[in-house]
Amino acid sequence: GKPLVVAIDGPSGSGKSSVSKEVARRLKLAYLDTGAMYRALTWYCLKTGVDLNDGAVVEQAAEDLPLEISTSPNHEYVAVGGVDITEDIREPRISSSVSAIATTMGARNELIRRQRELIDQHHHRMVVEGRDITTVVAPNAEIRMLLTASEEARLRRRGIQLGGTQSKEELAAQVIQRDAKDSTVVNFTRAADGVVTLDSSDLDFEQTVDTALEIVAKVI
Ligand code: C5P
Repeated sequence: GKPLVVAIDGPSGSGKSSVSKEVARRLKLAYLDTGAMYRALTWYCLKTGVDLNDGAVVEQAAEDLPLEISTSPNHEYVAVGGVDITEDIREPRISSSVSAIATTMGARNELIRRQRELIDQHHHRMVVEGRDITTVVAPNAEIRMLLTASEEARLRRRGIQLGGTQSKEELAAQVIQRDAKDSTVVNFTRAADGVVTLDSSDLDFEQTVDTALEIVAKVI
């Protein structure tokens, strides 16, 4: 088929992952969760005792990272050195350290290189989600979208996702702090030129997916 890269950026709790996966299924495209790559690198650095604040060492770890990641929207799988870490990378200890990795430019460049390689391998037929896909990884994507939601909606969704065991304050601190740290290197709070904003604050999951598919349909 013709190239169809659907680039979707957004903050945590915007519903980005579930929406992106469903869009990929409906369009029969491959799917790449770039956040999972940053999480896998964080897991690897913690595992091997790398100092997260030492940029040169983190960059080397990124280059060495023996990463395997599923590109099917129907099968979530992330492994490092053959160890399945699909579940582990969602742990709070990873979420709270990932921004330190993501703000290391050398590590970013290596992961961006791998992301572009994966897009090439899938003949540019892929939904790619993250924070810098519309602006850096795939600025020439056929479709570029920023999925946003109000802070209230994002906190509510993250809370449900984590099982509702955390206090509102704890959640807010985690989600908002991570976004604040991340936005020092990637701008995912405002849409870049040519990027369509999809505000999902008042939409349910189905409505958000339908709106995203309408945006795609207008272009293809
Ligand atoms: O999407 P998710 O919340 O799993 O992303 C985890 C982290 O990975 C983000 O908080 C951010 O630090 C980093 N990230 C990034 N650029 C991307 C995707 C994720 O910096 N394209």
